[in-house]
Amino acid sequence: MKIDLILGLQWGDEGKGKIVDVLTSNYDIIARFQGGPNAGHTLEFDGIKHVLHTIPSGIFHDKKLNIIGNGVVIDPIIFKNEIEKLKELNVDLKEKLIISRKAHLILPTHRLIDQASELSKGKKKIGSTLKGIGPTYMDKTGRNGLRVGDLEMDGWNEKFENLISKHLNLINNFNVEIDFDIEELKKEFLSSIDYMNELKFIDSENYFHNSIEKGRKILAEGAQGSLLDIDFGTYPYVTSSNTTSAGACTGLGVPPNKIGDVFGIFKAYTTRVGSGPFPTELFDEIGQRMAKIGNEFGATTGRPRRCGWLDLVSLKHSINVNGVTELIMMKGDVLSGIGKIKICTGYKYQGSVVNHLPFSLSDSSLEPVYEELDGWNKDICKITDYDSLPLNFKNYINYLEEKLKLKIKIISVGPDRKQTIFR
Ligand code: GDP
Ligand code: IMO
Ligand code: MG
Repeated sequence: MKIDLILGLQWGDEGKGKIVDVLTSNYDIIARFQGGPNAGHTLEFDGIKHVLHTIPSGIFHDKKLNIIGNGVVIDPIIFKNEIEKLKELNVDLKEKLIISRKAHLILPTHRLIDQASELSKGKKKIGSTLKGIGPTYMDKTGRNGLRVGDLEMDGWNEKFENLISKHLNLINNFNVEIDFDIEELKKEFLSSIDYMNELKFIDSENYFHNSIEKGRKILAEGAQGSLLDIDFGTYPYVTSSNTTSAGACTGLGVPPNKIGDVFGIFKAYTTRVGSGPFPTELFDEIGQRMAKIGNEFGATTGRPRRCGWLDLVSLKHSINVNGVTELIMMKGDVLSGIGKIKICTGYKYQGSVVNHLPFSLSDSSLEPVYEELDGWNKDICKITDYDSLPLNFKNYINYLEEKLKLKIKIISVGPDRKQTIFR
């Protein structure tokens, strides 16, 4: 048995939450392997719309296990809110949710460092969600971090206080003004920890190893997208984890030879929240139309998402880095009635046309090269089978499959679980 992965191929918000929820019935275990509450994964079904930040998107299904892997960073305060919201919907987590002891904890001071760091960067800020993600991964790789398993060990309080004072010194060094009451923040954090302690902590790498041996089916859920990957994204405008398939190996403790299908998920167009280069970004009424019809507002911060045409250069980059085996296309319904559809097939860059991502996408000479296809006018959001889709929509699918040399196996035509077409 091998584990399958679902990964975003763009700058996040591709619709991972929806598709993980749709596919959960085929699996026994759903596992998050990186990122933290910077993620916002939206699920819609039976009139419920729910956003998950840390908890895997299989949580609404009965008899499925959801695991938060070692590669994830957890903010106990946000986690507590997430649990409470799920309890309101009568989701019983005790039997369904377990956490890796090796996952790192986001302290309130990590969020303050994020804030200070962004303020000090001025116009060059990353546009972080300010959830403390970067500073927590810095402490992880700097070997200073606190992990979930530390909560069960002696000396937790001392480690906690030491790290907090280290952080307060660091915040001072930024020389920026931020307001906070450290005692209040500590109190809120520690009371949330009590809450977290009610859940089961495990050595998840062993659990995955044994589950694979027993033939249990596992789906790993990525957060963010490949273009936000710390190594292969548009650095420095990225997040602080490996969002690509190798991140699932280190973020769960699963070896590469146990990875099965890699589902790559993308929107029929492109969006980005936060700062950083975006070659196919639209500043005209077409971009505004995508934002409006696609309801493109961040699920975590509510910020408007920047919108633009599909970019095959970056998509190909993501497919290659991840080893994608099957594609899933989301939000094709948003393009209905838009007129001609443009697709970026290369970049004019330093005097020639290139088909790979250059070192920096911020180069002022970089300009997208487009091909154009006829669009479709019919509303497709109630269509449930591939054959009934408009001809020009199918032409768009065939065109992309040919260019990307992969099958698009699932097509999503609306936010609801049911608005999903399998081929
Ligand atoms: P994630 O972070 O990848 O899980 O994606 P988000 O939840 O942040 O953003 C995707 C948004 O698009 C959510 O509001 C979804 O409800 C919505 N959505 C997902 N699939 C579709 C689709 O096929 N069509 C439309 N119109 N909306 C969709
Ligand atoms: P999901 O899982 C979209 C972006 C932020 C910012 C950069 C760094 O919902 O797809 P960070 O908080 O990590 O310091 O932010 O990454 N970002 C996301 N954009 N979807 C996400 O997650 C994101 N998580 C982080 O906007 O540009
Ligand atoms: Mg999201």
